[in-house]
Amino acid sequence: MGKTKLRVGVIGCGTIGSQVARACQDRLKNKVELTAICDTDKDKAVNLVKALKKVPQILDLRDLIKRCDLVVEAASAKISGDILSECVRAGRDCMIMSVGGLVGREDLLAAAKEKGAKVYIPSGALCGVDGLKSASAGRVDSVSLTTRKPVKGLAGAPYLEKNKLDLSAIKDETVIFEGSAEEAIKGFPQNVNVSAVLSLAGLGAKKTCVRIVTSPQYTKNIHEVEIKGECGNIFTRTENVPSKANPKTSELAVLSAIATLDGITNSVRVGT
Ligand SMILES: NC(=O)c1ccc[n+]([C@@H]2O[C@H](COP(=O)([O-])OP(=O)(O)OC[C@H]3O[C@@H](n4cnc5c(N)ncnc54)[C@H](O)[C@@H]3O)[C@@H](O)[C@H]2O)c1
Repeated sequence: MGKTKLRVGVIGCGTIGSQVARACQDRLKNKVELTAICDTDKDKAVNLVKALKKVPQILDLRDLIKRCDLVVEAASAKISGDILSECVRAGRDCMIMSVGGLVGREDLLAAAKEKGAKVYIPSGALCGVDGLKSASAGRVDSVSLTTRKPVKGLAGAPYLEKNKLDLSAIKDETVIFEGSAEEAIKGFPQNVNVSAVLSLAGLGAKKTCVRIVTSPQYTKNIHEVEIKGECGNIFTRTENVPSKANPKTSELAVLSAIATLDGITNSVRVGT
């Protein structure tokens, strides 16, 4: 008799959620069962069902959490904290992609620990999280991230509106933000999930430094991470291809969610 498959539910049927759902029925099909999907935009859920080989149930959030072993959040930072809270309450494991929504709500991670619910936070569109985790077993002095994004990848960020910054007026490479990860997450909630991941893996959102740079000449989402500590200095640079469906999201972030799901169901784990 084969092993029971992990029942997976996907919340958010957009760029990441759709591809995770497809991977459940493709490369991960022997290990997971895509049980249910959910989206506030019903059309998104219906369209995803049409693109799938086997039809999962379309459920509301609470029912999805009840019916699944692992919940994949790929919706929004506005709801990710509440989803985690609901998963912990129901004793379900969960993978969070809208990591910015967890910053300032670290109590939820403590509650998960207490309840024994597993919380998976993929590296996303960023390389260097493995090194930061290892370095954090010793003393880390500083963590900084420079994110370079094409102008259209920043459209709609609350920070731009608050500071009356007009993206169409930008003609050359421009530093548009410099501050803590905590401030970056508030000002650019759809852009800097990577800074939230770095914060959780290292020094926290108040002590992690973020710079956001844009230019009409940029075509990729580039993240440079610099870590200094007693183990030495680490520098990583990830040149990401933006997703066609959502230029704010990098293809590597989508793949990172799929690879994490693969890892959860594997007995061998490579990397820190
Ligand atoms: N961790 C990372 O490295 C990383 C990288 C890229 C994106 N993200 C985050 O992951 C999330 C998904 O990204 P995406 O590119 O797939 O976005 P997307 O806009 O393509 O899709 C999001 C989907 O979620 C749905 N949604 C929104 N609020 C919802 C709610 N309350 N309940 C159910 N569905 C809801 C939307 O209707 C949409 O279909 C975003 O929050 C994004 O910021 C994280």
